[in-house]
Amino acid sequence: MGKNLSKKYLAVTGSVTLEITAKAKKMKAEGIDVIGFGAGEPDFNTPLHIREAAIKAINEGLTGYTAAAGIPELKEAICEKLKKDNNLDYKPENIVVSNGAKHSLFNILQAICNPEDEVIVPVPYWVSYPELVKMADATPVFVETPESNGFKYNIDVLAKAITSKTKALILNSPSNPTGTLYTEEELKAIADLAVENNIYILSDEIYEKLLYDGKHISIASFNEKIKDLTIVINGMSKVYAMTGWRIGYTASNKELAKVMTNIQSHATSNPNTIAQYASVAALKGDQEPIDNMKKAFVERRNYMVEKINSINGLSCRMPEGAFYVMVNITQILGKTFNGYEIKNSMDLADYLLSTANVAVVPGIGFGTDNYMRLSYATSLKNIEEGLKRIEKALK
Ligand SMILES: Cc1ncc(COP(=O)(O)O)c(C=O)c1O
Repeated sequence: MGKNLSKKYLAVTGSVTLEITAKAKKMKAEGIDVIGFGAGEPDFNTPLHIREAAIKAINEGLTGYTAAAGIPELKEAICEKLKKDNNLDYKPENIVVSNGAKHSLFNILQAICNPEDEVIVPVPYWVSYPELVKMADATPVFVETPESNGFKYNIDVLAKAITSKTKALILNSPSNPTGTLYTEEELKAIADLAVENNIYILSDEIYEKLLYDGKHISIASFNEKIKDLTIVINGMSKVYAMTGWRIGYTASNKELAKVMTNIQSHATSNPNTIAQYASVAALKGDQEPIDNMKKAFVERRNYMVEKINSINGLSCRMPEGAFYVMVNITQILGKTFNGYEIKNSMDLADYLLSTANVAVVPGIGFGTDNYMRLSYATSLKNIEEGLKRIEKALK
């Protein structure tokens, strides 16, 4: 059977996060009281003024195709945002709006990679990075970003991973799954390395505004050379609670933007028209809903981190941003609880789901078995109850 299918795509695996979320949803539908720590999306509705802008667009008949890379109003609004928040000067011709930041990443990798190219991916990584690289016929080269280094690249280790085949490196700050934020000095060192070796940086800044400590800096902002090599990736999903609307974007040099636009024009045409008008309202309208969301996230983060560190066998560092906590489970591995032997992170996720009705994402989905990821994009009440169940299950 497999021999009639694409070898390249047969090697691509499904998303572990979506799998766990689906399992937990199914249990919930069956009436089981599951607490889900798997969520990769804010548990808030899209702000009212954004929803209203979409309805207005529908009623005004703004429902046809648009230019492949997006409507001019949205590209202008994105340029204004990049200037205001990131001190980056881009023109609309540098912007490509896509069906979510995931689609943006797909377009970039399709546009820059040739077979045998290597793309450096940090471990732990966001689940889709390695698969997106493989889908572009390139090879992911994994570089450890260990907890002992705050889940960040060590510049010497990174430099050693660069070869003549290295086309790009992926940088995700604040990060999924670790919540880690890079400092300005750390980013400068990475930028210098990229310029020296003439490699692209895919700077995934989707969690930029969900930041509770420190300051987000875009690596593209240091100088013209690094700006030319950087593709800034951002989107509406996380910051405006718009995951289902599917709008993300890139800012890059003009030549690359043109190639991505061509790819997109054949693959998906334009991103959803109505969602594009809603995104203009999101970027230009009241930003207060972000602050309200952040207030809730920071309270939950603080509670979660403190509680986890009080549970025997578990530990975690304080993440600066996003809405995830990467929990170190090394002390749990090899132990047996209620007859379940926990050999790896998947065993632990299965054990917690089947005996404690708690859904977590096993670290193996992010390339490391010594962790599990808990999302705090769920109510404080759920977090309290879920962590209580985990504590009991690990006694
Ligand atoms: C690090 C990272 N990048 C990109 C995305 C993609 O977001 P979207 O395609 O919804 O814009 C996600 C979503 O989970 C993410 O965590």
